[in-house]
Amino acid sequence: MRRLFSLAAVIDFALLAASLTAVSAQPVRPVITIKTEHVGMTLAVGADGRLYQAGFGPAESSFRVPGGSPAREVEAYPPYGNGQITEPSLKVIHTDGNTSTDLLYVSHRAVESEEGRVETRIELRDGHYPLRVTLCFRAYSSEDVIEQWIEIQHQEEKPIVLERFGSSSPVFQASGYWLTQLEGNYMREAHLVEERLTPGIKVLDSKLGIRAHQMRNPSFILAIDEPAREESGAVFGASLAWSGSFQFAFDVDWNNRLRAVCGINPLGASYRLDPRTVFHTPSMLWTFSSQGGKGGVTRNFHSWARKYGIRDGSAPRPILLNNWEATYFDFDEAKIVSLFDGARDLGIELFLLDDGWFGNKHPRDNDRAGLGDWQVNEKKLPRGLGYLAAEAEKRGIRFGIWIEPEMVNPASELFEKHPDWVITQAHREPLYGRNQMILDLTRPEVQTHVRKVIDDTFGPNPGIRYTKWDCNRYVTQPGSSYLSPERQENLLVDYQWALYDAMKYMAERYPGVISMVCSGGSGRVDYGALKYFHGFWPSDNTDPVQRVFIQWGFSHFFPAAAISAHVTDMGRRPAKFAVDVALSGAFGIDRDVSKMSAEEKKTVIAGARLYKERLRPLVLGGDLYRLQSPYERPQAALSYVSPDRTRAVVFIYRLGEEAFPPVKPRGLDPAKKYRVREINLPEGARSRLSINDQVVDGATLMEHGFAAPLRRAVESAVIELTEEGAQ
Ligand code: DGJ
Repeated sequence: MRRLFSLAAVIDFALLAASLTAVSAQPVRPVITIKTEHVGMTLAVGADGRLYQAGFGPAESSFRVPGGSPAREVEAYPPYGNGQITEPSLKVIHTDGNTSTDLLYVSHRAVESEEGRVETRIELRDGHYPLRVTLCFRAYSSEDVIEQWIEIQHQEEKPIVLERFGSSSPVFQASGYWLTQLEGNYMREAHLVEERLTPGIKVLDSKLGIRAHQMRNPSFILAIDEPAREESGAVFGASLAWSGSFQFAFDVDWNNRLRAVCGINPLGASYRLDPRTVFHTPSMLWTFSSQGGKGGVTRNFHSWARKYGIRDGSAPRPILLNNWEATYFDFDEAKIVSLFDGARDLGIELFLLDDGWFGNKHPRDNDRAGLGDWQVNEKKLPRGLGYLAAEAEKRGIRFGIWIEPEMVNPASELFEKHPDWVITQAHREPLYGRNQMILDLTRPEVQTHVRKVIDDTFGPNPGIRYTKWDCNRYVTQPGSSYLSPERQENLLVDYQWALYDAMKYMAERYPGVISMVCSGGSGRVDYGALKYFHGFWPSDNTDPVQRVFIQWGFSHFFPAAAISAHVTDMGRRPAKFAVDVALSGAFGIDRDVSKMSAEEKKTVIAGARLYKERLRPLVLGGDLYRLQSPYERPQAALSYVSPDRTRAVVFIYRLGEEAFPPVKPRGLDPAKKYRVREINLPEGARSRLSINDQVVDGATLMEHGFAAPLRRAVESAVIELTEEGAQ
C-alpha cells in the first residue's frame, strides 16, 4: 500500500497553471525535506515563488530556512536566464527563440512505498511558458541514499530545445571541498585522484557517447572542510546512473559556495523535445557520511546496491572460468570441451565462452570480421551452442557466452545488407574503433534486430545460463541516418534509453541468465546499466598487482558482488597472490588448465574451495572496510565483516619491500572474542602471523592490530576472524 503524507502544499497543477504569475498570492511557503535515517536535504520556497535549497547534509540538522527571497545562487534547480548568473542546470530554447527559463514552485507531494522508500515530486513551472519541470527524489532510508532525477515536459506549439538538463545540482557551503574522481584508461581503470576545488569550474566528464566510462567513471567523492579520510570526516559520495557521456560541473562561487551540476553531458546533445512528451534525466545517487569518511559512503552504496542497484544483489555469484585470456579467438569445439574438463577439476561452476564463436561467411577469427552475424561458426563449433552447454552440464558446470549485440564489422553479412544502420556522419571518412561500427539503436529496425539477436541466442538454447555483454568502441562520429537533420543531437540520449530497453528486455525475458556488463574492460560501469546485470568486468588488466588498485578504486561505489576478479597469469605473479586478490571480489579464473603447473593448479583449487566453503557469502555480502591504502604505502589491506559481526576476513597484499605498521581491522564487535587464523596457506606452510590461532577480543584487535605475516613484495595473506563459539 502506498501512503500519501506530508502534503504541505499539494495543489492541483492544472488549477494552478493559469495563475502562476501571481505567486505572491500563495498562502504558504512550503519547506520540503528529503530525508533518510542520517542524510537530509531541505528545500524551501522563497517569497518570490522560486525553489531554494536550504541545506544538504546530516538529517538531524535543521537547516536555517532563509526568510524572504534567498540569493539566486542557491536556487534548487537553476535555469539559465532571467537573472540567474550561476552555472545552470537547465537551459531551454523556447519555440519563439527565447533562451531564458524561470521556474516557480507549484506543488509537491511525497509518497511512501511499502518498503519504506519515500518518493517526493516537486512541480515547478515557468512563469510564462507552458513548461513543467518536476524534481523527483527517492529516499532510501536505512541505506542513506537519495536518488534524484528530473522530468521535463511542455505544451508549447512546437518542439523546444533542451540545451542543458542536469539530473541534480545541490549546493554546498563549507570552508573547503576536496574532490576525488576515478580516472584512467583501458588497462588502467578506476584510479583515485583527489584535489582541492578552487574558485571557478572544474569539469569531470565523458564525451565518448558509449563505452563512455573508459577514461572516467561517473562517480565521485566530495569531502567537506578537509581531504577525504577513510573512516572519519564528512564525505558525500555520488554516482550517475547513466552509461553515456556525462558531465559533473563543480562551480565554486565568490561566496565559496559549491554547486555541483551533475547529469548527461550536454555537449552534442541539445535535445529537441516534442510537446507533451516527458524527458527523463537519468538518476543521480547521493549518499553522505557525516563522520564515517569514504568508508561510510562506500558501505551505504554497497548496501543500497545489493538491495536496489544490481540484479539479484544478494545472490551468490558463480565461480567462472572465462576462456578469453586462455585462447583468445583461437579455439574449436574440442578445445572448448577440453577446457570444461580442466574447469571441473579446478572447482569451477560456470564456463564462459568469450568472443569468437560466431560468423560463417565472415568468420570471427579475429577482431576484423563477423560482428553482427550471430550464427554459430560451423567450422569451429559444428554441433552448436546446445551441444557445448550439454557437454558442460555433463561435467556439472553451467555454460555461458559473450555477445556484443550493438556492433557490426563492415566485414559482415549484416553490414552488407544494412550499411545504413550504423552511427556515422555524411561527408566524412568512416572512423572505426577495433574495426567495428556502432548500430544506431534509435532506428526501430535496429532495436528489433538486437532483440532478435537476444532471442535467437538464448531462446533455443536454455542451456546458456550466463552472458557477458560487451561494447568495444566509443562514438567518434555522432550521426544518424534515421533521425531528421534537426534531431541529430537527440542521438546520444535516445541511444542510451534504447540500449536500456534492450538490456531490460534481456533481463526480463531470460531471468535465469546471469549477466556481466563489459565494455572493453569497464567502459560501462554505472548504476544505469547495473540494474540489468549481476556484475561487471573491471579491466582487461588482470595483473593482480594492478588489480589491487583497480578493484580498490571501484570498491568505493560498487560492492564485491559486482566486481569480477579473475585469476590469470598476467604479470607472472605468484599464483597465491593472484588467487588472494581474486578472492576479494566475484572470484573467477581465465586460464587454460592444461597449461598450468601442478603447483598453480593446487593453489587455484584450494582458493576455489575456500571461496565456496567459507568466503563467498562474507565477501559478497559483508561490510567492506579498507584498512591500508595502496596509494599511501605499497601494501594494501581490506576486510569484509559479516552483518552480525561474528566473522570477518582480512586480505593483505604486499606490493613493496618495506615493512609496514600493523594492520588494524575495523567494524568488529569490541566485546566479541575472535579466533584469528591465517587461511589459504600453501599446503604444509606454517603461518607467520604472530597471533595465529589465538583468541583475541575485537577491541584489542581494532586497537593494536597485527603485523602482516609477509616478508617481501607480491606476497599476500588471508586472515579469518571467527567469533569463538560461532561457526
Ligand atoms: C573486451 C573485453 O574486455 C575482454 O574481456 C574480451 O571479452 C574481449 N573484449 C573480447 O573481444
